[in-house]
Amino acid sequence: MSDVSRPSPAGVRTAAVIPAAGRGVRLGPGAPKALRALGGTPMLIHAVRAMAASNHVSLVIVVAPPDGAAEVKSLLDAHALPDRTDFLVVPGGATRQESVRLGLDALPLGYGVVLVHDAARPLVPVDTVDGVIEAVRAGAPAVVPALPLADTVKEVVPADTPGDPEPVVATPERARLRAVQTPQGFDRETLVRAHDTVTGEVTDDASMIERLGLTVVVVPGHEEAFKVTRPLDLVLAEAVLTRRRLNDGF
Ligand code: CTP
Ligand code: MG
Repeated sequence: MSDVSRPSPAGVRTAAVIPAAGRGVRLGPGAPKALRALGGTPMLIHAVRAMAASNHVSLVIVVAPPDGAAEVKSLLDAHALPDRTDFLVVPGGATRQESVRLGLDALPLGYGVVLVHDAARPLVPVDTVDGVIEAVRAGAPAVVPALPLADTVKEVVPADTPGDPEPVVATPERARLRAVQTPQGFDRETLVRAHDTVTGEVTDDASMIERLGLTVVVVPGHEEAFKVTRPLDLVLAEAVLTRRRLNDGF
């Protein structure tokens, strides 16, 4: 981490955009996912703290549920962040991509590096965040943290009716696959250009950069950067928090 431990040169200040506007349908009924509690604290606050834990992140832009911006603003006011970190709250959109775009639109001048981090990945360790920033500063236009897969992956012809048998088309070589996480890091101009020009659905920000024909690089992700998607993920997240609290006690 030698590169990021130096003070930021002018023009490469780093901001984090946190899309947090999703409902969390797969988690089941309840409050919007980002506002649900983990260890007694809203998931979003964990995610904001995870970004603010990096010395290099001086602004966090939270993209709130469209009808929840005021609530998110008061949540952030109520939970202390480091002095060096400012925050902004903007209302989100109907898709993740739209929410990220609305966050980028609110980004002030002077931030050359942008992280995009899912509120649904509340426990990403600071070393992962710094590793992404370092690789962007070293010149990559787009950087994603990722892990090798444990499962073998099959490509299928998706069934019309969920649960029906699905024919297998191919088995990609597992050793060449990576499961990508966030924060994904970008040169600001490149990410804005991608949002201006790339059309169609994408499931992550880096794939928009790929569509521009630019190279995206992968750096090591972390098991604790998993996405809270289904109810079992909440159990895992609580267990990780408990383990951290026990370890902090030593
Ligand atoms: N997100 C967003 N705006 C949307 C949809 C998603 O900001 N319109 C955010 C979510 O809040 C989350 C991140 O994108 O932090 C990753 O999305 P996902 O895990 O799919 O969250 P949800 O869309 O909320 O969950 P689900 O798909 O189960 O409804
Ligand atoms: Mg979703």
